[in-house]
Amino acid sequence: MTDKQVFIFDTTLRDGEQVPGCKLNTDQKIEIALQLEKLGVDIIEAGFPVSSPGDFRSVEAICKAVSTPIVCGLSRAVQKDIEVAAAALKYAKRARIHTGIGTSQSHIIHKLKSTQEKILERAVAAVKYAKQFVEDVEFYAEDAGRTDNEYLARVIEAVIKAGATVLNIPDTTGYCLPEEYGAKIRYLKENVNGIHKATLSTHCHNDLGLATANSIAGVQNGARQIECTINGIGERAGNTSLEEVVMIMKMHPSLNVDCDINTRLINSTSQLVSDRMGMPVQPNKAIVGANAFAHSSGIHQDGVIKKRETYEIIDPKEVGVDHSKIVLTARSGRAAIAYRAKNIGFNLSKDQLDIVYARFLEIADQKKEVEDQDLQIIIKNKLSIAQVSV
Ligand code: KIV
Ligand code: ZN
Repeated sequence: MTDKQVFIFDTTLRDGEQVPGCKLNTDQKIEIALQLEKLGVDIIEAGFPVSSPGDFRSVEAICKAVSTPIVCGLSRAVQKDIEVAAAALKYAKRARIHTGIGTSQSHIIHKLKSTQEKILERAVAAVKYAKQFVEDVEFYAEDAGRTDNEYLARVIEAVIKAGATVLNIPDTTGYCLPEEYGAKIRYLKENVNGIHKATLSTHCHNDLGLATANSIAGVQNGARQIECTINGIGERAGNTSLEEVVMIMKMHPSLNVDCDINTRLINSTSQLVSDRMGMPVQPNKAIVGANAFAHSSGIHQDGVIKKRETYEIIDPKEVGVDHSKIVLTARSGRAAIAYRAKNIGFNLSKDQLDIVYARFLEIADQKKEVEDQDLQIIIKNKLSIAQVSV
């Protein structure tokens, strides 16, 4: 392991599965866990075992099914939760208990009806208790995004002393600005004794659309684990999306970080999760949306046909998409028509293209998208030319 290595902690099966309507059965969870293993995630957060007998059984089954990734179970800073998580993780080749408690004033006063000192004691006690079952204990300071940095640093220092191996700094409400979140991670790096013994982790929610930016800011300031989900699913507006942070790290070598994800499996994993959860991916979603590699305006199409990189920073093959798409709409130009006509076996001369293009525009003004079949009919009706096999 080098300092460049960023661990990918996937919580699709825990935070992601909390989405209303996205509930999975055990077989579906195993199928997704095996795909995440192939994808190369380092840690799978398999569930919250105390939450229901079904979740317990799923975590147990995932532990038996996967070999390489660490399997993690969530708990609150409550002995019973920790015991149940440990029991569910019994068959894991490598187990991690994830335990924690709210640290912001809002959580301490309104949710936990407690004091900073008592919460600090509970945090330490939870980590010590979890350490009786497993070596690898991750602590989360819920709502760390809105927690005062000085108090947060005290809690983190105390739980490291108690044996925490990973410190999760969640922006639970998705409130932070990237600069603020990055500064929080840097503050912990610079002010917590013993921080070098543990890994700092980001866990960002997307309420303001900043989850990915905040996670990357965290990494730029010393975090070495990112918690994320496939397609960015998760509570409310979701979590950081795995595909986005992974491709940002890949596309920007200047960040000087690396991870072990096989990016060519990103698209198929996205489709599997979307299908099994019954949760469609928005077409304009970065990396995995249906339009992520589709070009519809004439200016862009002309550029992409001449050289793909003109309007695409990622080679679609890098994320498991066969090829870029040239979509025919009323905004398309002649270059796109010639290109798509050639794909279906018609090599149009300049004059022929002018004729086809005029008719194409009439049709395109009536339809959202002109398909290959429509184009074939236009060409056959307007010209008497042969279609070659492609
Ligand atoms: O968002 C959050 O704070 C969480 C914790 C339970 C890690 O999901
Ligand atoms: Zn969360």
